Amino acid sequence: MLLKNITAICIFSIAAINMACAQTIQTIDSNTLQRMQWFKDARLGIFIHWGIYAVDGVSESWSFYNGYLSHDDYMKQCKGFTANKYNPTQWADLIKQSGARYAVLTAKHHDGVALWDTKQQGLSVVKNTPAKRDLIGPYIDALRNLNIKTGLYYSLIDWSHPDYDIFTRTQKRYTNDSLRWKKFTGFYQAQLQELSTKYNPDLYWFDGDWEHTAAEWQADKVRKMLMYYNKNVIINSRLTNHGDYATPEQGVPIQIPKDYYWELCYTMNDSWGYQPNDTHYKSCNQILNVLVDCIYKGGNLLLDIGPKADGTIDEKQKQLLVDVGRWTKKHEAAVFGTLPGINTEYCMYPTALSADSNMLYVFVSGKPASVYIKGLNNKVHRAYVLGQGTMLSYDIFGKAYWNKKPGMLSINLPQQLCDNEITVIAILLDGPVSLYND
Ligand code: GLC
Repeated sequence: MLLKNITAICIFSIAAINMACAQTIQTIDSNTLQRMQWFKDARLGIFIHWGIYAVDGVSESWSFYNGYLSHDDYMKQCKGFTANKYNPTQWADLIKQSGARYAVLTAKHHDGVALWDTKQQGLSVVKNTPAKRDLIGPYIDALRNLNIKTGLYYSLIDWSHPDYDIFTRTQKRYTNDSLRWKKFTGFYQAQLQELSTKYNPDLYWFDGDWEHTAAEWQADKVRKMLMYYNKNVIINSRLTNHGDYATPEQGVPIQIPKDYYWELCYTMNDSWGYQPNDTHYKSCNQILNVLVDCIYKGGNLLLDIGPKADGTIDEKQKQLLVDVGRWTKKHEAAVFGTLPGINTEYCMYPTALSADSNMLYVFVSGKPASVYIKGLNNKVHRAYVLGQGTMLSYDIFGKAYWNKKPGMLSINLPQQLCDNEITVIAILLDGPVSLYND
């Protein structure tokens, strides 16, 4: 990752010393800051794993790679991939409703089946499935109509391509054949060129870099090419560390990540693609807790859905997006464009700060009678329930007159004001947050 190459000279201000973020923006150049701003503010994105694997509900690409079924049988799913109820406007409406500011669609997974009409030698839904048409263009248009940033997932690995060296976990097509490898890199880079010129996405989400080195993928050249087509494009780290942001997968980082830009990709059940047999769904509350954890630590959540082969979205997945959306809409000010909060040594709940740091948002789970914050030097102007409006009474206790240590702020939270999922208390301070640190 490029950011890792920047020596992190962390210039902390006294006030910021206990904020929940590791790398500070002082280490990042102004072009990058500008280019990355929408991403930094977005907080929630929707990942869409859509491909032929939805037909039989098997794991995307991995099912044949791992030998759960043969490649031939896996590819038979092509016949059932109709996309005949695909309605990208409905997708975009739902994404909008969830509160997400961007989406990332699998243009091509490790199985090599492109969702667009690729002119390169290789599989596509246009050539090989009854869908018979480009599925990416309409998605891009529908998102752009609603002002949602557009992302495309692209797997560097292509286990189906005759010139790709690896076929399955146990079978290789070749070793050390530089001519064939050259053909493959030419092929995949031409596909990327198609994506850039046809759709000009705001973001590329690479995957599968682990099978080759940066030099073998020609990662540097690829990054330059994508930026040539769109100087503002954002690239994830899975281009053998030639990207802009880190991509932890499935688990919220325990420690505050040292990368300033990061995004957690996360499934609603245990599968990326549509697997109706997988009913192990997280609850809305669990998903929101993960989102809040990301916000608190300064990252984004990329929440995954897996549409069916006909293009419709499972009711359960729809409902979760709607429920998440109810909460993000109500608490918009605490979600989008916020800064990481104060450390949990000061407040046992995750927090976030407004861009000017004058407002502290506390994400309260459950229905406690009081919420406590210690070590806050600021005066509180007011405290209220975000998205609901009621002013809350508060008190300072335990302030000793003979030292400078602030007392404990105690905010009373009547039960009936609590949100059923996570209540957000907004605390307006007399200036940028300042924490006692002794
Ligand atoms: C992993 C898997 C892949 C999935 C991706 C999403 O890298 O290879 O199946 O698409 O994670 O983050």
